[in-house]
Amino acid sequence: MAKQIGVLTAGGDTPGLNAAIRAIGKAGMNAYGIRTIGFLDGFRGLMQSRFVRMNEEGRLSGLLTLGGTVLGTSRDKPHKMPVGGKKMDMTQVMVDNYERLHLDALICLGGGGTAKNAYRLHQHGLNIITLPKTIDNDIYGTEITFGFDTALIIATEAIDRLHSTAHSHHRIIVAEIMGHNTGWLALGAGIAGGADVILIPEIPYNIDKVAEAINKRSQGGKRFSIVAVSEGAMSEDVAKRLNAAEQEREASDDKERRKELKKQIIDIERERSQSTKELTSELEKRTGLESRVTILGHVQRGGTPSPADRLLATQLGEAAIHAVNDGTFGVMMTIQGGKIVPRPLEEVVGKRKNVPLDHQWIDTARHLGIAMGD
Ligand code: F6P
Repeated sequence: MAKQIGVLTAGGDTPGLNAAIRAIGKAGMNAYGIRTIGFLDGFRGLMQSRFVRMNEEGRLSGLLTLGGTVLGTSRDKPHKMPVGGKKMDMTQVMVDNYERLHLDALICLGGGGTAKNAYRLHQHGLNIITLPKTIDNDIYGTEITFGFDTALIIATEAIDRLHSTAHSHHRIIVAEIMGHNTGWLALGAGIAGGADVILIPEIPYNIDKVAEAINKRSQGGKRFSIVAVSEGAMSEDVAKRLNAAEQEREASDDKERRKELKKQIIDIERERSQSTKELTSELEKRTGLESRVTILGHVQRGGTPSPADRLLATQLGEAAIHAVNDGTFGVMMTIQGGKIVPRPLEEVVGKRKNVPLDHQWIDTARHLGIAMGD
């Protein structure tokens, strides 16, 4: 019978994290009498043994509607932890702390990177369960992640608001939307907000085709356009260079060449992440319409979670507690066919859930006449 478990939040913060922490703490105590301790600032807190006891001092009150994470977060990795100016493998320290605190399990709330790190700890003997959170919805093995719905609402509302100003000034407004290397958020918000063009990383764009779509609108009397662009979107040329470098790196056995290629990939990715402004001014040149860019940024991650995210995070947190009680470890609690299903971490880590090119949302966008840049 489990008596005490740990919980931590790692990676970028996401609406719904506190709802999940609350569900773990409450369901643990109510259903099985399990106490929860919360490590501060992700894996770093586990390494430093910095934690709070969640079932004491009303720590579980007022969390449901709160954005961010009360535990704090970091992107620190157990095997590459910054310590005294160096990156060190602190895995064993974490294993020792887990044992010293007599933990029966550790629940890690995070994205793909967190799942990978948590899996490493599982391989070192810790009883690990992960919950999939991210506004990007890019975690392989689950249909949905908590945080996505809230970010979708925020990004959609932003596009709604950009419409009236774009229309009034007869402008193109390019809205840059988060999503890391995937286009879930831009595609969802673009359709829901009625964008005229949606650019996502999965479909490299041709600037001439984007300009052509906007010019066609102008010819039809629509003198404004909204372009929803994913932060990871890229032109056909950038995609070609990136793929070539990635493929060569994968195939190469030469350590030096691999290092060089890694540097090249980072440079191309930097170029890609700075391309929205250039895209906007190119569109202005090619269409003659005054253009503006709006980068939505971290506002998409802030504030209170939507009811759907509260519900999802709460259910996943509760399900994790039942898994602890059953002794089901080394798993991510995923959503499949609308149901919560634990999936072995080894099946899901190291992969990314891109938007499939035959996804229904892409068909819907195209059938509505939204240009996808190809
Ligand atoms: O993974 C969530 C996310 O918000 C991505 O959409 C974005 O690329 C990244 O995190 C931003 O990271 P940071 O908070 O470190 O700027």
